[in-house]
Amino acid sequence: MAEQQRIIISGGKRLEGEIAVQGAKNGALPLFAAAALCGGESVLHNCPKLSDCDSACRILECIGCKCKREKNTVTVDSSVIGSVEVPTHLMREMRSSIIFLGAILTRCKSCRLSFPGGCELGPRPIDFHLAALREMGAEIEEKHGFLDCTAPSGLHGAKITLSFSSVGATENIMLAASLAEGVTEIHNAAREPEITDLASFINKCGGKVSGAGGSTVTIEGVEKLRPCEHKIMPDRIAAATYLCCAAVSGGELILTETDHNDLRPVTAVLEQMGCRIYSYGQSNMFINAKKPLISPGTVRTNVHPGFPTDAQPPLMALTTLAAGTTVFVENIFENRFKHASELARLGARISVEGKVAVVTGVKNLSGAELMATDLRGGAALITAALGAEGVSRISGLSHIDRGYENIEGVLRSVGADIKRM
Ligand code: UD1
Repeated sequence: MAEQQRIIISGGKRLEGEIAVQGAKNGALPLFAAAALCGGESVLHNCPKLSDCDSACRILECIGCKCKREKNTVTVDSSVIGSVEVPTHLMREMRSSIIFLGAILTRCKSCRLSFPGGCELGPRPIDFHLAALREMGAEIEEKHGFLDCTAPSGLHGAKITLSFSSVGATENIMLAASLAEGVTEIHNAAREPEITDLASFINKCGGKVSGAGGSTVTIEGVEKLRPCEHKIMPDRIAAATYLCCAAVSGGELILTETDHNDLRPVTAVLEQMGCRIYSYGQSNMFINAKKPLISPGTVRTNVHPGFPTDAQPPLMALTTLAAGTTVFVENIFENRFKHASELARLGARISVEGKVAVVTGVKNLSGAELMATDLRGGAALITAALGAEGVSRISGLSHIDRGYENIEGVLRSVGADIKRM
């Protein structure tokens, strides 16, 4: 249905008010996989209502688990796993469903899924995931687009060094290692906050993970994990997006249910642009933005605690209206500037060459017909349309719905003129 819908924004309204930030999509997905390890009823609170979370539930149901949602709480009952095959259409719906491989393989000793292939951001290789699982004793056959994985005598611990700190590979190894025999060390592990949240879930279930958040993560395999109850961490990318929306409107917002430490790489850049940002209490932030903003110079995306690649598109939208020239260097994904040509329809001046985009700030943007082609690129279009004069119509909403819960309702509640038709 999202395919026929449009978001319609009449730009130029100043945002003011309070937003309670949703739970993290990227935090939720590995926890769904972790819940499959526990052999009982795990409860995930603060689970955002997103199509990606629905896809994760469908994968769990396909392998025999039961998922029940009540508002933002999802209960996963993994007492019985009756199948070890993830169907192709579910793998295609969500490329990151490869995260289920480590969990299914370690619990059931086999797993069959289709190769995730490429995605909107370019090729999405899984070579680190497969190499690590092989080091842990998995036999993996890649045939006709399928991965047939077995570990007849179970997985065992290993010393794994990642050549790049991949978030998904770190999570997959942690999941696989938590029920493997012996100790696994992940060197050059990803340090993203979602890794720390996954470690704390596994430990609550009786697992033994240490070092998460640092570059070496150690997992001592245990025989059994028990189900647990967990509150999913706040979504730092949704928070970053709403900060950009506030800034583009010259507005003033309070974000609650957020973690300002996780957002530092983003708030540092917004402060350079002239926004004033304060954090108070355990989980509240305040942003005040006065136009015109100024360019932050060069922004390089990098692994945490560098500037997050997922926040690059909404920030780019903001810099189109900032005085001066901003250079974006995209170091994580090959093809992550698709939003640039859509932003140009609004009057933005952006030139792209390989992994570099140069944005020359303009005084005004004006409304246009836009199409989202990926999740965060879609968030960039919404951000820019809020700052543009006149009406913009945005299609391709299925991408945006993968990661933002009720984005039009949230923005309308703080004064945006936005509706879904
Ligand atoms: C996760 C996030 C995504 C975010 C990304 C980087 C989820 C569900 N998604 O994606 O939103 O943009 O981290 O912060 O959490 N790579 C390989 N081989 C592999 C694995 C990765 O070459 O086996 C490369 C990728 O192509 C990419 C880079 O490593 O260029 C980073 O990817 P990775 O950190 O794995 O991202 P994801 O876990 O897929």
